[in-house]
Amino acid sequence: MYVCLCKGVTDRHIHEAVRQGSRSMRQLNQTLGVCSQCGRCGRCAKGVLDEATAQIPAQVPAQVPAQVATRTSAPMPTSAAA
Ligand code: FES
Repeated sequence: MYVCLCKGVTDRHIHEAVRQGSRSMRQLNQTLGVCSQCGRCGRCAKGVLDEATAQIPAQVPAQVPAQVATRTSAPMPTSAAA
């Protein structure tokens, strides 16, 4: 469905923008031009933004396994050593 007629932005465009990292109306405005002319799309765009953002899995802080964190770098064996 079209969300922003002035810029030809659809809900699919907004979902893709959110997958690419957009999380706010300001970012949608910068990436897609949503709400940059008449502004009538603002409420609908925000609704689609919220819906798309809710579908993204919660970001879990990266955890480095203890084994990897304590591993020291060892030289790679050469193929002629065997
Ligand atoms: S409909 Fe989006 S700026 Fe006009």
